[in-house]
Amino acid sequence: MSRRPNSSRRFTDSASIPFMGALHHKSRQSPLLSIGLVVVGALLIVGYMYHGSGGRSVDIASLNRLEGGVSCNLELQRLIPILKKAYGDSMRKVLHVGPETCSVVSQILKEEDTEAWGVEPYELDDADANCRNLVSKGVVRVADVKFPLPYKPKSFSLVIVSDALDYLSPKYLNKTVPDLARVASDGLVILSGYPGHQRAKVAELSKFGRPAKFRSSSWWIRFFIQTSLEENETANKKFEQAAAKQSYKSACQVFHLKSLH
Ligand SMILES: *[C@@H]1O[C@H](CO)[C@@H](O)[C@H](O)[C@H]1NC(C)=O
Ligand SMILES: *[C@@H]1O[C@H](CO)[C@@H](O)[C@H](O)[C@H]1NC(C)=O
Repeated sequence: MSRRPNSSRRFTDSASIPFMGALHHKSRQSPLLSIGLVVVGALLIVGYMYHGSGGRSVDIASLNRLEGGVSCNLELQRLIPILKKAYGDSMRKVLHVGPETCSVVSQILKEEDTEAWGVEPYELDDADANCRNLVSKGVVRVADVKFPLPYKPKSFSLVIVSDALDYLSPKYLNKTVPDLARVASDGLVILSGYPGHQRAKVAELSKFGRPAKFRSSSWWIRFFIQTSLEENETANKKFEQAAAKQSYKSACQVFHLKSLH
């Protein structure tokens, strides 16, 4: 799995300059040869430029998508009290899946009568002492969410996933989302970015390997139907009510799914 963006296109422009030098040198020797070389050279240069600009526009498109925002984790810190109202006792044993899970797990653990575990989908490059402690106790694990989670069915009452799914292609989502619903007994909460929402850090491209793809709520709802996952209307209603009471407007899309039985 590649975690680095492809930067090979960057050098195509400078590569065409030595070729220009050779062209001028040859043209003094034979006019016919020079015409042929100019034509071939022009074609090559056009080819290079076409390629080069193609590469650049791909990069810009991915950066734009990236700037579309990845920060549902920050959002989650404010959402926890609202989720607690919506889920009540179903928050007793929570699994959080997503980047920076150490800080999310630490915050959930502050809630009364709540146990919490975390799955960090990416390498923990700069884990602080608190995070290293959570990992050594087995509370937080580093695991690739493209593969089945190392937990038995219904190991947790509630599973909350933030940010991680925006980086997965539909092929992996097809397996990962049902697997998240499998390890929950009372529900799965999905936090996903809004398409076109302006936030996030460019530096994250190298960490996640693949730019985030922000899908509309109609895309997600179609996806849930295709994968036979049902939304939990009760949880949804309670969540909306609790959010309205605190005048809270989420900057992320929040979906409440029933667990798989
Ligand atoms: C995902 O699963 C659905 C339903 O099983 C299927 O229609 C769709 O083609 C799958 N998508 C991919 C990318 O595998
Ligand atoms: C739906 O959510 C409520 C919490 O609002 C929870 O108590 C219930 O178990 C959930 N239902 C299903 C079928 O997951």
